[in-house]
Amino acid sequence: MFTLRTATPDDIPAILEFWQTSAENAGRPQDSADALKSLLDRDPQALILAVDTDGHTLVGSVIAGFDGWRYHLYRLAVAPGHRRQGIATALIDHAENRFSALGATRSDAMVLDENVTAQSAWWARGYRVQEDWSRWVKPLH
Ligand SMILES: CC(C)(COP(=O)(O)OP(=O)(O)OC[C@H]1O[C@@H](n2cnc3c(N)ncnc32)[C@H](O)[C@@H]1OP(=O)(O)O)[C@@H](O)C(=O)NCCC(=O)NCCS
Repeated sequence: MFTLRTATPDDIPAILEFWQTSAENAGRPQDSADALKSLLDRDPQALILAVDTDGHTLVGSVIAGFDGWRYHLYRLAVAPGHRRQGIATALIDHAENRFSALGATRSDAMVLDENVTAQSAWWARGYRVQEDWSRWVKPLH
């Protein structure tokens, strides 16, 4: 069993540890406590956690980010020993409810082309590839 709640600054060390073992970490800049603190300062509701009700350990996460214009989902992750129990589904539903309350009409996620498992999870929640767009990126430092 698990419960969902928003993260607080006290959760930051556990989240960083959780992402090391549970998240998709390929091709991304290193996570940092400062970056997480900055996220929670800017939007305290953005980081949603799934917590195991027995052990009180972190078993899932998603960032539901609203930049004032678009609604993006990041860092969907579920602990390896807790997968296929509907935790990602619950996290995505919770994030979408947050977006809808803020006025969203759509939500999007970045998914690696080779991450077939993640694609299955997003597909199951109704997400589809937008074939006519690509992500354009420029490093700022
Ligand atoms: C992708 C991930 C978040 C899915 O989490 P989860 O809690 O296991 O997902 P759910 O139990 O909610 O599964 C929902 C549906 O997604 C699909 N799905 C999930 N994992 C799957 C798998 N390994 N193979 C095939 N389909 C899968 C299924 O349709 C599933 O429904 P079902 O169990 O009724 O068949 C998890 O595997 C994970 O953390 N992977 C590593 C990190 C990652 O890649 N994150 C995504 C970044 S974009």
